[in-house]
Amino acid sequence: MFLSHPLAQSFLTEVRARETSRAIVRHRVRALAMLLFYEATRDLPHVPRPITTPLAETEGTRVAVSVGLVPVLRAGLGMVDGILELLPEARVFHLGIFRDERTLTPVEYYSKLAEHSPVDVAFILDPMLATGGSAVAAASRLKAWGVPRIKFLGLIAAPEGLRRLTEAHPDVEIFLCALDSHLNEKGFIVPGMGDAGDRQFSGA
Ligand code: PRP
Repeated sequence: MFLSHPLAQSFLTEVRARETSRAIVRHRVRALAMLLFYEATRDLPHVPRPITTPLAETEGTRVAVSVGLVPVLRAGLGMVDGILELLPEARVFHLGIFRDERTLTPVEYYSKLAEHSPVDVAFILDPMLATGGSAVAAASRLKAWGVPRIKFLGLIAAPEGLRRLTEAHPDVEIFLCALDSHLNEKGFIVPGMGDAGDRQFSGA
């Protein structure tokens, strides 16, 4: 699913632009994550919740599943806080995966998962789906941990990455803001937004 909403597309344009400051990039990544999460949770199971308003008894609803957010470090970190404003009780499981610059293969360097998954649905958060290696590794890790339902939320994908994730994990639902042209020889998405970690955290 692609977010075609005009707010999402104008935020994404700001994120892409080279001159956009780190502060604005962070703010827009956070906002885009919230919009993606809003879309990706449309089918979240909920159950009736009887309540009493100041005027009458009535019946509302409450979300009935345990949600886990799985930011892929580093770049996925910028997507967590906004989503937690929408669903403060969500658990967060950090997954450290970087791409070997030479081989472009994913290397897991951090994870702290309990023995058994307490999560009904997990949302992998990573702005970039480039070769797809990191997302495929993250989804495999979560499945091995016992997560029954997984969704991927990202800002920009390359066709190669989208294909690879879909082929490796056809059951993982994918929510994105844009599908870009291609990967360059260094594995960067073109036109893309550059290095999503650097743009948010440590760039010039
Ligand atoms: C980037 C990005 C993804 C990954 C995507 O992370 O944030 O995690 O690369 O590439 P792939 O689809 O080819 O696996 P990077 O390795 O640059 O780490 P960082 O977030 O710490 O900068």
